[in-house]
Amino acid sequence: MEFSIKSGAPAKQATACLILGVLEPRRLGAAAEAVDAAADKRLSALLRRGDMDGKTGQSLLLHNVDGVAAERVLLIGCGPEEEINDAKYRKIIERSVKQAAATGAADAISHLPELAVKSGGATAGMASAAGKVGAERTMPWKIYQAVLAAEQCRYEFRAFKSKKKSRRKSPLREIALATAKRETAAAETALRQARATANGVKLARDLGNRPANACTPTYLAQQAQALSRDLGKDKTRKPLKATVLNEAAMKKLGMHSLLSVSQGSAEPARLIAMEYRGGGRGDKPVVIVGKGVTFDTGGISIKPSAAMDEMKFDMCGAAAVFGVVRAVVEMELPVNLVGVVPATENMPSGAATKPGDIFTSMSGQTIEVLNTDAEGRLILCDALTYCARYRPAVVIDIATLTGACVVALGKHASGLMSNDEPLAAALLRAGETSGDRAWQLPLWKEYEKQIDSPFADMANVGGRDAGTITAACFLAKFARQYRWAHLDIAGTAWTSGKNKSATGRPVPLLVQYILDAKS
Ligand code: BES
Ligand code: MN
Ligand code: ZN
Repeated sequence: MEFSIKSGAPAKQATACLILGVLEPRRLGAAAEAVDAAADKRLSALLRRGDMDGKTGQSLLLHNVDGVAAERVLLIGCGPEEEINDAKYRKIIERSVKQAAATGAADAISHLPELAVKSGGATAGMASAAGKVGAERTMPWKIYQAVLAAEQCRYEFRAFKSKKKSRRKSPLREIALATAKRETAAAETALRQARATANGVKLARDLGNRPANACTPTYLAQQAQALSRDLGKDKTRKPLKATVLNEAAMKKLGMHSLLSVSQGSAEPARLIAMEYRGGGRGDKPVVIVGKGVTFDTGGISIKPSAAMDEMKFDMCGAAAVFGVVRAVVEMELPVNLVGVVPATENMPSGAATKPGDIFTSMSGQTIEVLNTDAEGRLILCDALTYCARYRPAVVIDIATLTGACVVALGKHASGLMSNDEPLAAALLRAGETSGDRAWQLPLWKEYEKQIDSPFADMANVGGRDAGTITAACFLAKFARQYRWAHLDIAGTAWTSGKNKSATGRPVPLLVQYILDAKS
């Protein structure tokens, strides 16, 4: 989809579809009111007659409205104005795009960014981590969110359909977002950033949705090189450097924990690093690390077969790293960013790790592998040790790490744990702003003894209680040298059921965190 910013009198705008908001009870939005005045009160007459009262979910399509340049006018119910919060605004945008796409229109102008949106408000009767609940969202925020919501709802993954063309016949290709003239410059900036973020989300979704037979560690490594090549075509940008380590190189570094996971698989592991130096020479980089288990069978501690196909999504942390890197490079942000992806399959075989096996990690700490299905932490711990070489400002890892996180938080929030409170607070705030929320869990010392081992420095599992936290406790032992946060995205990275798909989360959260840190 193409997006642009437009200002001007709504009734005079030449477009195939003019999208206008109607509020409850029977109240025209500002743009609709202007159109009403130009159209001999036709819209207000419709409301008076009861054709529409502005309830959310309602819409009304009008053709050939006298006094209006647009071919069609699409009225969208937005509910009571005071109830429009972040989530509702995104819903309204999604609905309007779906409705516009259902007409024959190839382009549209949407006046919905005029809506007054109250920040937060999603937690009933409680202040959010973002602080000022109820503060009005700015025009740049509304533009940015409109683009992300529109792209999100138009997404399809058809790479493995024999008919590549969408089943949808919709010709809708272009949406202009209306703003007041004086706000166009800020809106244009937000639009550019939103396009880049949407491209990052799409990349993360495409990689996540790709089946494991076509998304191996080798494939991910090739994708890093392809991304570096593609982004490098624009010579005005700072380059993205991609480095790939093979198993021999990892062995030399002492990454025996990571290799204990790949040793049962016919597919060789890869350690991928993507470095972008958009900031100053002395600026310490933000380092993001994504779990890249391209398929998780559980290994010898094999998983039950129900829904095992969904374990192709066990590389969604890695996919998010690719997405964030792509977005940040496209935005040409003045920041140093490194993306690190340990990539492997987790398979049972004659060569696979057995429960009770002990390995020495790159950090020198030894690990007793009591459950081969707790493999994410085994690859992340060596990747975290590796990250120290970048002298990071912060390290944030992203992983579909524990089923326990889905039990605790469901599909709504990613789990957040950190050894640095300001970093945790900044991530929570970025989650609220972007609508890609996280919720913090404690990383108290008391939990640590659950992963004590009689034979090694630690065990890789800590029992049933607080499974998400004990997994983070394990990782924390490898992140002592720097400010670190861990996002458990087991619940948020994909949706199940008939619309099964990778979501691209937490790309919006992380891009927002980087944007906030830079302004
Ligand atoms: N990739 C899984 C976690 C997972 C499971 C994410 C289901 C989303 C949905 C991870 O590797 C795993 O298997 N974790 C185990 C850990 C346990 C053995 C301590 C789990 O959560 O059961
Ligand atoms: Mn597992
Ligand atoms: Zn896993």
